[in-house]
Amino acid sequence: MRLRNLLPLASLALTLSVFAPQAQSAPPEVVAQTPPMGWNSWNYFAEKVDDKGVRAAADQLVASGMKDAGYIYVNIDDTWEGERDASGVLHTNSKFPDMKALADYVHSKGLKIGIYSGPGTKTCGGYAASLGHEEQDAKMYAEWGIDYLKYDMCSFIPDVMMKQAPNDKAAQMRIMHAAYVKMGKALEATGRPIVFSLCQYGWDAVWEWAPALGGNLWRTTGDIDPHWDRMYTILEQQAGLEKYAGPGHWNDPDMLEVGNGKLSMDENRAHFSMWAMLAAPLLAGNDLINMKPAVKAILTNRDVIALDQDSLGKQASRVYSEGEVEVWAKPLAGGALAVAVLNAGDNRYSTHPFHLDLAKLGLHGAQQAKDLWTGKDVQLTQNMPLEIAGHDVLLVRIAQPK
Ligand code: GLA
Repeated sequence: MRLRNLLPLASLALTLSVFAPQAQSAPPEVVAQTPPMGWNSWNYFAEKVDDKGVRAAADQLVASGMKDAGYIYVNIDDTWEGERDASGVLHTNSKFPDMKALADYVHSKGLKIGIYSGPGTKTCGGYAASLGHEEQDAKMYAEWGIDYLKYDMCSFIPDVMMKQAPNDKAAQMRIMHAAYVKMGKALEATGRPIVFSLCQYGWDAVWEWAPALGGNLWRTTGDIDPHWDRMYTILEQQAGLEKYAGPGHWNDPDMLEVGNGKLSMDENRAHFSMWAMLAAPLLAGNDLINMKPAVKAILTNRDVIALDQDSLGKQASRVYSEGEVEVWAKPLAGGALAVAVLNAGDNRYSTHPFHLDLAKLGLHGAQQAKDLWTGKDVQLTQNMPLEIAGHDVLLVRIAQPK
């Protein structure tokens, strides 16, 4: 009796639900529409990273104002991994007692969390990597709430590529490609939006094939270190790669060394300026707790960050160079243009200043611009003399180039 009474109601509800507006499920988040920004543990802490340090970094991103400036990802690099158990589940080591709890903590700060692995048996630091466990690991990352994976080739080279295809470079590259496709698919299958960062040092023109397998960024070179010469060598290798960058897929000239080593403030400023011009991922790699105010001021310069994060997503081109001075230009949304004049050398004084040739930039006559480091308006004129300290940069934004 009860059941009979209920049935018509149930069928009425069913009928109504057909006509009722369907609850709209939010469209899946599209990641890396602008170059990812955040912090990564490797460049300063390397194997010293632990749960406490990652929480402290998250706290500092908030307290320093870096989060508000756009630094969202808190990325744990190598050395978090423990052993696999009999079911193949990879456990964390004692430095990371509870990865899910750590991810929850980072998320509670309004930040996102990244992790690190590789396609080989071992990571670069000699810890367990994902070979043969790709789907299992990706699923675990998603269950933990991971938002970003850096996938570093390392032992895959000797373990798999050289073993399976000795003396056949082309076959080795195909094997490498397949390994990245595999993890790309495994991440996609989790249904969680996870930034996929390829770290294979730019081999086999990765920029040509990474976007198709879901790569959001790919390292274009070997590792950076906190020395001017290394930073500058990497910069030079980015010229010509601009056509491969765009919303959702970026060239990665490696993480920032701003505030690390013995880089001078001029060098820090030049490094940060050029990475912003390159539309590079801005992953700070310094000790946030003991960050000098001058370093913080560089990392949080909103005008410079805005160049990097510009919605047009264009990477700068090197337009011309004259000796050790080079001129780069980056088209910006709304027709604006950023110009960087970098003095990669020393000893160029007002006795023989550099003369900026606006015509080579396609500009005609005087241009109104903003100097993004002094914050002042400047007028650029044809062949104007510029005195730029060694390893420093003039960085300007021209709102309405003529
Ligand atoms: C490689 C990468 C670095 C870092 C280390 C960790 O060298 O290129 O960025 O991730 O491995 O072992």
